[in-house]
Amino acid sequence: MRQFHSLKVKSVDQETADSMRVTLQVPEKLKEQYDFLPGQHLPIQISVDGKMIRRTYSICSVPGEQPLMLGVRVQPGGLFSEFVANELAAGDELDVMPPFGQFHVSVDPESKKTYLAFAAGSGITPIMSIIRATLEGEPHAKFVLFYGNRRQSTTMFIDELYALKNRFPERLQLYFLFTQEEQEFPIFSGRMDDAKVRELFTEFCAGLHPDEAFVCGPFPMIETITNALAELGLDGDKIHKERYGSPRKGKHAAEPEASAAELKDLSTITVIMDGHRKSFDMPKAGDNIVDAAAANGVELPFSCKGGVCATCRTHVQEGEVQMETNYGLEPWEVEKGYVLACQSHPVSQSVVLDYDKA
Ligand code: FES
Repeated sequence: MRQFHSLKVKSVDQETADSMRVTLQVPEKLKEQYDFLPGQHLPIQISVDGKMIRRTYSICSVPGEQPLMLGVRVQPGGLFSEFVANELAAGDELDVMPPFGQFHVSVDPESKKTYLAFAAGSGITPIMSIIRATLEGEPHAKFVLFYGNRRQSTTMFIDELYALKNRFPERLQLYFLFTQEEQEFPIFSGRMDDAKVRELFTEFCAGLHPDEAFVCGPFPMIETITNALAELGLDGDKIHKERYGSPRKGKHAAEPEASAAELKDLSTITVIMDGHRKSFDMPKAGDNIVDAAAANGVELPFSCKGGVCATCRTHVQEGEVQMETNYGLEPWEVEKGYVLACQSHPVSQSVVLDYDKA
């Protein structure tokens, strides 16, 4: 089951002036549960002033490596990241859920693929894991990384990236872009907007015929790069996306409150988790399934509650639900009946959600 376990913090180190590197020790008895694929992430829960807050952080180490390593960008006013920067210390315990997420690569030693990656800021964290695992595990793979930051001094994992380049000089191409530092070649200055992505692709990817691309960064950047890559000929299902930050104002925010009559129209939700079934009734209008479950004493997994992290991902076995927003699931997952419970409202009289279906 996707539940929190207490993991010991092995170290907390300054990565750049505004980012931290946290390592977590996984006890022997939990090792199997914390096996991960390169690119996956972990929800973490802490209590601040008596209030539980959850955040999701990507793993930057590679499978089989201990301890688990995370990269955390410190946001001014960010409850979790400021806690990490100012209070968290080696020896502390953190509540951490096992890794998951669809932003990953399955390493195949026979593969001869060429991969592209576009990362902005802390978006490098899952991509670090993907690049290293791929170059180490696929002897014929090639990787091209475009990595945007404000300045060199705020660029996370810069030393590791140069070290990887030294290990795999023929198979890794690294390009750094900076928005607040002028570069000798203008192509490396500025944001990764539509024009820049096309320029970079034309200049450095001509003749490479990339097979897959990984894009990780804030919302607008993901949309821009995905659209540009699709127009440059990459299949949509070969472009893997991982967003961070908050989406633009959601549709839900503008929706009118449910009326008293609507709140009386109930649906029965049955949840299958670890082979056990639990049921509760909830109005079809009003709260989402995660909040309605909590109000009925049923705890379902969640982290961001914004439709981004997919911690609440589940499979609709019976019935129908409607999602408000979806930034966390790939089209194939939606087609196969997966939904984000934090964004879902029941449509049918009864709904069965299977959390055990991978
Ligand atoms: S909790 Fe993050 S998408 Fe639902």
